[in-house]
Amino acid sequence: MMQQSRRELLKAGIGVAASIFLPSASLLAQATSLIQRKVPSTGESLPIIGIGTARRYEAVLTEAERAPLREVLRQFKAMGGRVIDTAPSYGTAETVVGDLMTELKSRESLFIATKLGARGGDAGIEQLEQSFKRLRTATIDLIAVHNLQDTQTQLRTLRQWKQAGRIRYVGITTSFERQHSEFAQTMRAEALDFIQVDYALDNRIAGQRILPLAADRGMGVMINLPFGRGRLFTAVQGKSLPPWASECDCSSWGQFFLKYIVSHPAVTCALPGTAKVEYLVDNLGAARGRLPDAAMRRRMESFIDGL
Ligand SMILES: NC(=O)c1ccc[n+]([C@@H]2O[C@H](COP(=O)([O-])OP(=O)(O)OC[C@H]3O[C@@H](n4cnc5c(N)ncnc54)[C@H](OP(=O)(O)O)[C@@H]3O)[C@@H](O)[C@H]2O)c1
Repeated sequence: MMQQSRRELLKAGIGVAASIFLPSASLLAQATSLIQRKVPSTGESLPIIGIGTARRYEAVLTEAERAPLREVLRQFKAMGGRVIDTAPSYGTAETVVGDLMTELKSRESLFIATKLGARGGDAGIEQLEQSFKRLRTATIDLIAVHNLQDTQTQLRTLRQWKQAGRIRYVGITTSFERQHSEFAQTMRAEALDFIQVDYALDNRIAGQRILPLAADRGMGVMINLPFGRGRLFTAVQGKSLPPWASECDCSSWGQFFLKYIVSHPAVTCALPGTAKVEYLVDNLGAARGRLPDAAMRRRMESFIDGL
C-alpha cells in the first residue's frame, strides 16, 4: 500500500514534471532550430549561419585566450550550428578549432571548411597534410583553393583527395573584387561543390554576376566578410533599427546585415567572424524567423545607401 501510494505519487510527480517541462522543451527545440539550405551537389542540409575564424582565432596562445573560444564552439554546437570556416594561413585558427572540437567531442556534428593556399603540387600536399593534423580529423568537409592561388594544380590535388574520401567537397574562394572576373571564369570552367565570396549589404558586387552564376552552375555559396570586417557596424553607429526591420524578425543590426545576405536565393550560408558568445547568439538569431523578401531586400539596400 505504502509502495503503491509512493508509486502513484511518483507517477503524479512525473506527470506534473512532464506537463511543466514538455512545453518548454518543445519551445526550446523550436527556438534552437536554425533555417537550413541544401548543398546543391548532394542535397545535404546546412544551417544558413556559420562561424568565420579569421583574426580572432589567429593568435591564440594562452588558455585565457582559448577559453572564450571554447565557450563559443560549445554553444555553437548546442544551438545547432555546424559550419566553421578556417584556413591554414589564419595563424593558430586551424589548431584552435581542431583542439577545441576534439575536447568538446563535436567533430561529428560540425561541417569543417578550410582552404588550400599554396604554389606547386608538393607544397599543396604538404599544406593539406598539415591541415588534417591541425584539425585532428580524418575527413575535412570542404577544402577550397584560397584566393585563386595556383588554382588548376591545387584543384587537381583536391579532386584526388576527394576521390580518396579524405575531403567531401571542393571549391574556390576570394574576397577581392579584382579577382571576380577570374573567379567567374573558373566557375564556368570547373565543376565545384562550393564557392566562397565577399558579399555584404554595403558590398553587393557579388550579387551582380557571381551569385547568379553559382545558382546556374549548381554550386553552394558561402559568404565571407558579411559585415565588411565590422565596417557595417561603424556605418550604423548610434542609429536605431528602422521599425520595419521587425517585419523580417531582425532584432539587432547584426541580424539585419546577415538576413540581407542569407535571403539571397543563391546563398547557402554566411560566415560572420564570431569569437564572443554574445555575438554568436545574435548571429545565429539571423537563422530564425522570417527572412526578407525581394521588396524588403531593396528597402534594406536603400536604407544603407542613404546613410
Ligand atoms: N578569401 C577568403 O577566403 C576569406 C577572406 C576573408 C574572410 N574569410 C572568412 O570570412 C570570415 C568573416 O570575415 P571577418 O571575420 O574578417 O569579418 P566579418 O565577419 O565581416 O566581421 C567580423 C567583425 O564583426 C564583429 N561582429 C561579429 N558579430 C557581431 C555582432 N553580432 N555584433 C556586433 N559586431 C559583431 C566582430 O567583432 P569583434 O572583433 O569584436 O569580435 C568582428 O570585428 C572570416 O572569419 C573567414 O573565415 C575568407
